[in-house]
Amino acid sequence: MTGDLDPDRIERFRALVYDYYRKSGRHDLEWRNTRDPYRVLVSEFMLQQTQVARVRDKYRDFLFLFPTLSDLAGADLRDVLAAWSGLGYNRRARFLHELARRVCTDYDGKLPAEREELQSLPGVGPYTASAVACFAFDTALPLLETNIRRALIYSFFTESDRSSSDLFAAESPPAKSNEPQFEPRRANAPVHDRDLLSVAELVLDTGNPREWNYALMDYGELIGRKVSNPNRASAHYTRQSRFEGSRRQARGAAIRILTTVETADAAVIAERCEISLSRVESALHEMSKEGLVSRDPTGRWSIR
Ligand code: ADE
Repeated sequence: MTGDLDPDRIERFRALVYDYYRKSGRHDLEWRNTRDPYRVLVSEFMLQQTQVARVRDKYRDFLFLFPTLSDLAGADLRDVLAAWSGLGYNRRARFLHELARRVCTDYDGKLPAEREELQSLPGVGPYTASAVACFAFDTALPLLETNIRRALIYSFFTESDRSSSDLFAAESPPAKSNEPQFEPRRANAPVHDRDLLSVAELVLDTGNPREWNYALMDYGELIGRKVSNPNRASAHYTRQSRFEGSRRQARGAAIRILTTVETADAAVIAERCEISLSRVESALHEMSKEGLVSRDPTGRWSIR
């Protein structure tokens, strides 16, 4: 880390982040205007690996179809996957559906508030558990997701990159908006999540964790638009792989077709989605191991 995290530095950082958030934060995001744990949970499942712009409409449509956790628990997986279509990573939808059923049987239909209990539910990792505890139950927890990682790496784990700052100045016209500008900086070493989490804990505004974490996300999103991605310095950084020709593409296409028919042959699915039979078959077999689809004795495939 560059420099100590003395109380003054923490105060200055908080002021900077809150100042930006007050003026330009994404206050209109629907999931930020609810404390309903189910609604918060749905948003966090959708936002894992999917961009905000894509989630906005899907979120509204999904909640229109499944307004409560028990509606979701009572739905067919096929309908849940159909509503998920376009978000990708369909396993998340299956986990969410399974989670809803589990919460109905084990928790009387009410999501638990404790991070540890949340994390024991299907598809819920440390981030999602903490996010739900924070955003729905106001628990003071530090969060680490892609935008927050970027904000913390940029602010606490990098140094001015003077060699490229001239270049940056030449490429960037002066800011038109009153958004803060950022100089290019270079990380001194790969940054581990455990170190980021320690900083996230130090800077956390425990009196207002919900607003603070929204603000930090938005500040990180701003940095992502202003400087080349500081997250490359994260020891946990992975770029999303190309979609065209990927396994993800074949999986998504097969699921989309299977949500419109009772059962289908792999060859028919391949023809309809214009992907080779071998790619479709391998995607189907992979998804069958995950409990998303199944094959009947005649070799026809269906949603689970
Ligand atoms: N607001 C709440 N959770 C969020 C997330 N994961 N990404 C962006 N905005 C959010």
